[in-house]
Order: sequence, then C-alpha cells, then structure tokens
Amino acid sequence: MGETMSHEAFNQEVKVYKVWDKPTRLFHWINLGLVMVLIFIGMLMLFKGDIGISGLEAKIGLKKLHVWVGYLFAINLTIRLIWGVIGSHSARLSQLLPDLKGFSGYKAKLAKGESPQYLHHNPMGRLAIFAMMLLLVTIMLTGLVRAGTDIYYPPFGGAVSEYIAQPGVEGASIKPYDDTGVDAQKVAVLKPYKSLAGEVHVYSVYLLILMIVLHVAGVIVAEIKHQPGLVSAMISGNKPLTGPAEDEKQ
Ligand code: HEM
Repeated sequence: MGETMSHEAFNQEVKVYKVWDKPTRLFHWINLGLVMVLIFIGMLMLFKGDIGISGLEAKIGLKKLHVWVGYLFAINLTIRLIWGVIGSHSARLSQLLPDLKGFSGYKAKLAKGESPQYLHHNPMGRLAIFAMMLLLVTIMLTGLVRAGTDIYYPPFGGAVSEYIAQPGVEGASIKPYDDTGVDAQKVAVLKPYKSLAGEVHVYSVYLLILMIVLHVAGVIVAEIKHQPGLVSAMISGNKPLTGPAEDEKQ
C-alpha cells in the first residue's frame, strides 16, 4: 500500500520553477528577524513597569535601541519597495496587490477538493501580504515621526528640536525628556501629531501581530494540504508544482 502510494507520487509530474529572487528572499527573512526584535523591545517599552525596569535613563535607552533597530528595519523595507519596482517578475509590487478576481476560481477548486497550484501567492496569501506590507510601511513612517518628536532622532529630529528650541537656544542642545531651553507652547503644538503617530504605531503593531499569526497559519495549512514546498521555496527560490500554475500562463 505504502509502496503504491509512493510510486504514484513519483509518477506525478513535478516541475520545479524559479520564484522569489535572492533580494526578495533576503528581505523576507531579515524583515522577519528585525520585526521579532522590534516587537520584543517594543513590548519591553510598553510593560517596563511590570517587569521592574524603571528610571528615565533606562526608558530613553530602550527607545534609542528600538530606533536603531528600527532604522535597519526601515532600510530593509525601503530596499524591498525599490526592488518591487526594478526587480524581477516575482518581486514586483503588482504581485503584492490583492487578486480579487482570482478568489472565485480558488474557492471553487478548494470546494471541489482540488489543490490549485500557485507560482506566487494564492489569492488568500496575497491579501495577507498586501495587508502586512501596508502595516509595515505605516509602522515605519509613524516610527520615524515618533523617533523625531520623542527623542529628536533623524530624519525629523533635527527640524523638531530647532522648532521647539527657545529663541537663542541651539536645537542640537535640546535633550529628550528635558525641558531646558524648550518652548512649552511649541511643544504643545506638536503634541497631537506626536500622540497620533504613537497611537497609529502601536495599533498597527497589534494588527501586524494578528496578520503574522494568520499568515503563518495559512502557509502551514496550504503547505500540508494543498501545495508542499512553499516554505522551502522562500529559502531556496525553487518551487515544485504538480500541475499548471493558476497565476501564470504556461
Ligand atoms: C515592525 C516594526 C516595529 C515594531 C513591531 C515596533 C513596535 C513598537 C511598539 C510595540 C512600541 C510601543 C512602545 C511604547 O509605546 O512604549 C513602539 C514604540 C516606538 N517605536 Fe516602534 N516598532 C517598529 C518599528 C519602528 C521604527 C522603524 C521606528 C523608527 C525608526 C520606531 C520607533 C518607535 C519609537 C520612537 C517608539 C516610542 C514611542 C513612545 O514611547 O511613545 N519603531 N514600537
């Protein structure tokens, strides 16, 4: 019985395609690592009181560390977005837009018990990737605004500290969480923007965590039930298909 099954499996025509070029694969795994580290430091920042981290120095130190790792994340994401315009076919940003037309065919095949094969993401995967990319960009932009308004770090920190400095005071001499030389009225003008950036940043992170869980669950189900080789394709760039790809004209 086992032999027959494996025999059948060998008789199935398996074609291996090149997908996810090297920059795309590198982005994916670097992004995963940096996002995990940023979530970890972010959670330390949020719950520092509960775990016994106190004092202004520690608070500012955690923020600086978060922002330095945040820069690496922002650089990696920016390179990926540029690669999405100039890179190979499977890296293109158009591959990340939701494929609403493909949904009906996808669902119909699944309902019939078939396993539609995709060279890139299946329509569900594309929806998840699109949402995650939007969230990543939102988190990056609000993080940079918050870094500027909270601890006067680049790229906006220089302009912010110049703006809030009292007349005759050098912007560069302004220290985070220190009122010396600061114009309180101008700080009040910036406050709503700072708060908004902070709120959008944190809520986008919660949504991102939810999307990561859904994405990983979706990949595991698809890998086991419909299309083996999805995870290894993101490592090796080779994807085995046992039938025609739904998303490519062969
Ligand atoms: C996916 C990437 C990121 C994740 C998961 C993340 C996570 C978090 C979390 C959970 C917080 C809440 C901590 C708090 O409010 O006390 C936070 C705050 C913060 N994040 Fe991020 N972050 C990311 C990217 C960035 C980037 C790219 C920057 C800027 C370079 C940045 C700058 C900041 C700053 C300045 C705060 C402090 C806000 C405050 O204390 O009010 N973050 N981040």
